[in-house]
Amino acid sequence: MLSTIINLSYLVGALAFVIGLRRLSSPDTARRGNILAAIGMSIAIIATLFYPFSGAPNNYAWIIGGAIIGGIIGFVAAKRVQMTAMPQMVSIFNGLGGACAVALAIVELLHYYNGTADLSGGQFAVVLLTLFIGAVAFTGSILAYLKLDGKVWDSQVTLPGHTYVNIFLLLVTVGMCVYLFMQGPALGFGWAIALTVIALIYGFSFVAPIGGADMPVVISLLNSFTGLSAAAAGLIYGNQIMLVGGILVGASGTILTVLMCQAMNRSLFNVIIGGFGGGAKSSKGQDGDQVAKEVTVSDAGIQLFYSKSVIVVPGYGLAVAQAQKVCKEMDDLLEANGVDVKYAIHPVAGRMPGHMNVLLAEADVPYPKLIDLDDANAALPDTDIVIIVGANDVVNPAAIDDPGSPIYGMPVLEVWKAKNTIVLKRSMSPGYAGIQNPLFFNDNNRMLFGDAKDSLQKLVKAIKEN
Ligand code: TAP
Repeated sequence: MLSTIINLSYLVGALAFVIGLRRLSSPDTARRGNILAAIGMSIAIIATLFYPFSGAPNNYAWIIGGAIIGGIIGFVAAKRVQMTAMPQMVSIFNGLGGACAVALAIVELLHYYNGTADLSGGQFAVVLLTLFIGAVAFTGSILAYLKLDGKVWDSQVTLPGHTYVNIFLLLVTVGMCVYLFMQGPALGFGWAIALTVIALIYGFSFVAPIGGADMPVVISLLNSFTGLSAAAAGLIYGNQIMLVGGILVGASGTILTVLMCQAMNRSLFNVIIGGFGGGAKSSKGQDGDQVAKEVTVSDAGIQLFYSKSVIVVPGYGLAVAQAQKVCKEMDDLLEANGVDVKYAIHPVAGRMPGHMNVLLAEADVPYPKLIDLDDANAALPDTDIVIIVGANDVVNPAAIDDPGSPIYGMPVLEVWKAKNTIVLKRSMSPGYAGIQNPLFFNDNNRMLFGDAKDSLQKLVKAIKEN
């Protein structure tokens, strides 16, 4: 009877995960989807509290104590985190998931080696896999956090010939897993500890050469690793909800990784070996012989005031400047004057998936105003003014017409087809890909230099004065 109730609860929990995940695919339903998945997780946790373990009673003081402490830390961290620091938080939480998988595997190996528990060949292999993947996810995620937070730089953690170091460490780790598996319980627990240490070092080393700004892709990949290690732990314990949850995390992390690579037109291998982007800064308004034309705030304000259609292209600089609210203020003013305002959202604008959607939702920009890449490219030729707020690579025509460019082939917003473009940024510095943007020198483009929030505030003032 008890096991039927537990299994039914797991089924309900798994359904809530799947439906919740489905709802995350649209900003309209994402909030409810998140709540539904959290309810599913709560049901699964409560059901697991009643899980009958043979021989070992549930230690409720440890379980409930851990849940309360973890719950409080998670709640406070999620409440306090800035939207721009979200990738860092995801990274740390993901790392802790990997650490849990390592802890589970170590406990199982301890019992196995001291003879208090027996593992079948299949179970032993899964425990080793859990240990390996969990350790890589743990230290890899912690280094990803340190890089994203600017606490360490790529050059500080990368050795000469790092790819070879990584291949060596991978071979040693896999070789040790195979050796432990072949030897069975004949070896001592010290071998399991040695394997853990090497796998932890490999996780760190694996992430070291990956460019700091590629971290969202890596975090998504490590997330899928953590999912796989949780699924493997589900197999060890014969726990269905752990298996289902782990597989969902593993699959969605893998899909997200692939989608991000596609949107940047780069292979996962290219991301993993690192060294992409990061170019020299150029002086304001000039690149070699080419000079970009500037616009004054009052001229830009007049142009916007008398236009019929405006498309805003938000990018990483909007997030840095925290300009989303003042952008919405400008939108409201223009709409009140009969201007049609839309936002063109590139799938990899900013530094994390959905970055722009989250920022604009924070500023209460209605979701129907956000148009995706294809719809935006269809609408751009009929648009009077495109205002590019801290975006660069996602509007670079070199992706279409320069086969030598590192971003050649990446789908971009074809803003140059609009009647006029105005770029809001602080200088001529390149974006993430480290390359200059020929758009800035087009005849129908004007630069409005300055911090995006500051420039938008001045524009709002200028529009109000018309
Ligand atoms: P970027 O090409 O990185 O350009 C951002 C621009 O914002 C910079 O040129 C910078 O110029 C400007 N900026 C920075 N701070 C600013 C401020 N306070 N005020 C005004 N402007 C400011 O951004 P993007 O167009 O959004 O493209 C995203 C890039 O990140 C792509 O190359 C993409 O492949 C990559 N990427 C994205 C993701 C995801 S999932 N989104 C993941 C990994 C990599 P100034 O310094 O001159 O101001």
